[in-house]
Amino acid sequence: MSQGRDQSYSLSNEDFDFICQYTYELTGIVLSQKKREMVYRRLTRIIRERKFPSFTAYCDLLKKNPVQEQSYFVNKITTNLTSFYREPHHFDYLTEHELPRLMANKVKQANGKKRLRIWSSASSTGEEPYSIAMTVLESLQAELSIWDIKLLATDIDSNVLSVGKAGVYEYRKIESIDEKYKAKYFKRGAGSNENNVRVTKELNNLITFKQLNLLHDWPIKGPFDVIFCRNVIIYFDKTTQQDLFTRYYDMLAPGGLLMLGHSENLGAYQQHFDNVGRTIFRKPL
Ligand SMILES: C[S@@+](CC[C@H](N)C(=O)[O-])C[C@H]1O[C@@H](n2cnc3c(N)ncnc32)[C@H](O)[C@@H]1O
Repeated sequence: MSQGRDQSYSLSNEDFDFICQYTYELTGIVLSQKKREMVYRRLTRIIRERKFPSFTAYCDLLKKNPVQEQSYFVNKITTNLTSFYREPHHFDYLTEHELPRLMANKVKQANGKKRLRIWSSASSTGEEPYSIAMTVLESLQAELSIWDIKLLATDIDSNVLSVGKAGVYEYRKIESIDEKYKAKYFKRGAGSNENNVRVTKELNNLITFKQLNLLHDWPIKGPFDVIFCRNVIIYFDKTTQQDLFTRYYDMLAPGGLLMLGHSENLGAYQQHFDNVGRTIFRKPL
């Protein structure tokens, strides 16, 4: 059995099974034998940093289930891969179809403004919600004053949320973004920060970052015009996925869109939505 190149700690089958069960109960993420090496690598870091004598000693602590340890564990076990404008067809669809549709159809509310709500529900380090924010600002720029726009970005992992809130990224992460948007929405750092950029206040102010476990209650206010649920349900089992789709459906406004990741689908829940583009699903009006 392979445990990765670093063999200084041994991970028994019993400890691995416990970690899989613990992860599932906390996050919904299903870990299989295929992930054993990844689990070993990620948790060895905790064991080394915190000077636990063994995996078993660390598992013993987890079994006592202290709340602080839970979040430390979750932050290490989640996969946070993301990038600006990842799966660009979703942002193209917003620009070409959805935002023009909403601009034409939305009516002003009692406060005299048109309401737009978008939720990035597994936002990781913020690249996804900031890409949504730039897309929205570009489309609505001529009539921004009549819009009440709120973007919600949530994730289970408190570390990635801090990165998103700060809005500071290495320059190489925005390298492939259109020059026009780089100049408009990012400020280059100076001195020791010259390899970093910071998103502008205008972009940052549009987004509320908040910790939320998709498995738990959602203390948030809909309805949403668009929900991004990308590259997260892939880690869950079918029952969890179907349960989440029902809840996303309820959180969407009639006609609202649900965006999934490239290798995700609605399964049996597809019958409740219209498939209007690649991994783009509309709740019927
Ligand atoms: C691979 S990233 C996807 C980021 C972004 N949506 C994208 O497609 O680029 C998956 C994110 O899901 C989050 N996640 C995993 N389980 C979660 C849960 N139960 N509730 C909320 N977020 C969760 C992870 O912390 C991680 O940041």
